[in-house]
Amino acid sequence: MHVRIDPWASTQYKDYAKLKEEFGIEDFSFSLPNPHKLFRRGVVFGHRGFGSVYKAIKNRNKFIVLTGLMPSGRMHLGHKMTIDQTIYYQTLNADVYIAVADIEAFATRGVSFEKATEVAVEEYLLNYIAFGLKPCQVYFQSKRKEVADLAYTLAVKTNLSEMKAIYGFEDSTNMCHVFAPLIQVGDIMHVQLEKYSSPKPTVVPVGVDQDPHIRFTRDLTQAHYLFNVAETKDNKIGIFVKSDENISNILDTCERKLKKIGYTKFNKIPSYKALYILDAKSNEISDIEEELRSIEINFNGYGFYLPSATYHRLITGLTGDKMSSSKPETAIFLSDKAEDAERKIKNAKTGGAISLEAQKKHGGKPEECTVYELMLYHLIENDAELEKIYTDCRAGKQKCGECKSLAAELIKKFLKELGEKRAQAKEKVKEYLVEW
Ligand code: TRP
Ligand code: SF4
Repeated sequence: MHVRIDPWASTQYKDYAKLKEEFGIEDFSFSLPNPHKLFRRGVVFGHRGFGSVYKAIKNRNKFIVLTGLMPSGRMHLGHKMTIDQTIYYQTLNADVYIAVADIEAFATRGVSFEKATEVAVEEYLLNYIAFGLKPCQVYFQSKRKEVADLAYTLAVKTNLSEMKAIYGFEDSTNMCHVFAPLIQVGDIMHVQLEKYSSPKPTVVPVGVDQDPHIRFTRDLTQAHYLFNVAETKDNKIGIFVKSDENISNILDTCERKLKKIGYTKFNKIPSYKALYILDAKSNEISDIEEELRSIEINFNGYGFYLPSATYHRLITGLTGDKMSSSKPETAIFLSDKAEDAERKIKNAKTGGAISLEAQKKHGGKPEECTVYELMLYHLIENDAELEKIYTDCRAGKQKCGECKSLAAELIKKFLKELGEKRAQAKEKVKEYLVEW
């Protein structure tokens, strides 16, 4: 059965293997330097096109991280994964941008721009700084002209029927909502404009619910490429020009450039808008594309890298449903009082057996336990400590009450420290908001 991911629905995805298969999301199995626990523990499970960013990390080259937040409702632990990864990438020297999706919140949830500003700063930015985010560019969609401009110009290569197919829009969908995904494309791509970081490998760390936006952005970016580089049936590498102007000039420029890097045998057929390299191999395609980027820019193209994305699992709410701001008992809010957080944990759904006796005998199921998930995603740093809880639970040696007490203590400490850091963060806010 065909499933569609709806980025605006509140669905709790369970079957990540199926999602990967259905949408062609690849397994995330890169070995990053000093990986954050979300990478070590497989919470970040999939990606599209992360290879270009990985290469930049390995070669210590610059890369871009762009992510976004929806400024509606209170920030809870389910929102923390993105920022954890972003902070990790800052340790690898990334250029970081964070979009406050105020246009999207207005379009899809009726949040006013004033309210969005307040929520973005009070609920999100202060927590981000408290978590250790270093100065970077946090901007509002509605305040960055390049975002909207790029949304308009890139939009020339999509149409309503394509957007309906991806997002399930109907005739009654309001046009601001219809345009919101294009604004997100503007978010993701504007950072590669010369005014910002210039073309560079870019990663967008998101929850898997955002995949439609990622596919859409990648397709639209590719549609604007000046060249299509591909292996032909007879094992040549073909460079095909997608424009109708300046063909000979473009092909000559390509040939000159490729000669400089060592290719010697070419077959140029302007009537096919094609240049074949006879002595290139298919594993050299990405290097060839790299050479062509500056040519695309010289002929008035963007020269964008195809943006990549990583996908993390969405944390389960404490009741077993999705963790959601609109259902307070499902979520630990970062501004929760200690006693509220403790109560929610004490009431949380675990993977424990019906009785203590049964648990001793058959063990518990940590993979179905929201308390375990909380420890895995957020509360326990040490892998060995977490693993001990896992094996003890399976072996019937751990009691749910013990886990809950531990998690409650850890969350209380976490919230207390966070509150103190948040108070200190207030004076730093200006360093993050460029267009304030
Ligand atoms: N759509 C995202 C959400 O619902 C927010 C967002 C806006 C975003 N622009 C982005 C996420 C760019 C990643 C990249 O949370
Ligand atoms: Fe969850 Fe701990 Fe109970 Fe196991 S013992 S089901 S990990 S709360």
